[in-house]
Amino acid sequence: MLILGIESSCDETGAAIIKDGRYLLSNVVASQAEIHDRYGGVVPEVASRQQLTTIIPVLEMALDQAGCGWDNIDAVAATYGPGLAGSLLVGLTVGKAIAMAYNLPFLGVNHLEAHIYANWLRETTEIDANASDDSDWEYQEGDPIYPLLCLVISGAHSELVLMRGHGQYELLGRTRDDAAGEAFDKVARILGLNYPGGPAIQKAAQHAQEELEQQGKSLTQALNAYRLPRSWLRGTYDFSFSGLKTAMLHLAEGAVGEQNAQHAHSTENTGKQVSQYTRMGVLAEQRGGTNIELLAASFQEAVVDVLAVKTRLASQEYHVKQVVLAGGVAANINLRTRLERELRPLHIRLQYPPIEFCTDNAAMIASAAFFHLLRGEQHGLDLDVEPGLSLPFSKK
Ligand code: KG4
Ligand code: ZN
Repeated sequence: MLILGIESSCDETGAAIIKDGRYLLSNVVASQAEIHDRYGGVVPEVASRQQLTTIIPVLEMALDQAGCGWDNIDAVAATYGPGLAGSLLVGLTVGKAIAMAYNLPFLGVNHLEAHIYANWLRETTEIDANASDDSDWEYQEGDPIYPLLCLVISGAHSELVLMRGHGQYELLGRTRDDAAGEAFDKVARILGLNYPGGPAIQKAAQHAQEELEQQGKSLTQALNAYRLPRSWLRGTYDFSFSGLKTAMLHLAEGAVGEQNAQHAHSTENTGKQVSQYTRMGVLAEQRGGTNIELLAASFQEAVVDVLAVKTRLASQEYHVKQVVLAGGVAANINLRTRLERELRPLHIRLQYPPIEFCTDNAAMIASAAFFHLLRGEQHGLDLDVEPGLSLPFSKK
């Protein structure tokens, strides 16, 4: 079954053609990150207007790359929430219009569910040689195995979710304030780094780590150059990142002050602010004006620490065979490495999508749609956008 997926929930416009929920025929994403970088974050009005101008060329490119025409498509799927109302409306309306024009089944997809289903995607068009028309499309070799723990970490959501089967979600914990991606974006802004903040912080942190390693310092030293608070919220699987963000604000003010002070050949007035939080102030000073990178490394480590430990604890309590990462922050290399280290001794498999399927894309929309269509579900063309949509959680 060939599904055309459409994604337009925020500042990426995506169209993809996926076979049987897993195999990639095409995946086109047009990002507006450069435009929003100017403002340090997404401007909703700009995002929706940009979606309008991009959607048709992106769709045409997706069909072209897959080498198929409208006649080959079996169903259309588009994100209907959560996200920015104006942006969602563009993709959803185009999806419904195509379904109506070609008389195809239509399915509205929950963007968060789609992030999870990015773990079912293969980067190939090759279909398993053993698969035949009557094979079990619910499970194919290489698919994640239930019960499954999902760490959903995107720009607006941070949730630990237990899945016992397709479409079955139990909420174990969620953020009480900022989402992990939101924290990365806000802290990048505080540090004067680019939008989106996640990749910018990862790059800055990587640079600091490499430099310190060259100086013979250990990685632990680099990752903990600044002592930052961690909100453990023990006894729950909830998260909180706002205290960490505030600590970063204070530290960054100090670091920027320190840079200015170094210019004036004096550290008198600002040194105190930094040393209040610094365990290895000497290390930071040796690096002169590049404290921002060390700050980025320490911040990233604080986020990774909490996410990894809580995920490990939940995976042990719920006896899962496998953990999957979902959402933009799942692209973070340090998080992936750390979680591998936490889970390997427990014989729990960690799976994450390739980087291009972690951030917003339409391939994951088509994948999630496939499993709904398998169950005979589809939506009417009166489906509206739901900007505040959450995963369809069942009661524990
Ligand atoms: O899932 P996503 O593309 O969009 C939403 O559905 O929100 O996630 C975007 C978020 C942004 O906050 C971005 O900074 C973060 O994912 N992100 C990362 C990395 N790449 C993207 N965070 C940490 N490390 C990364 N490498
Ligand atoms: Zn997303």
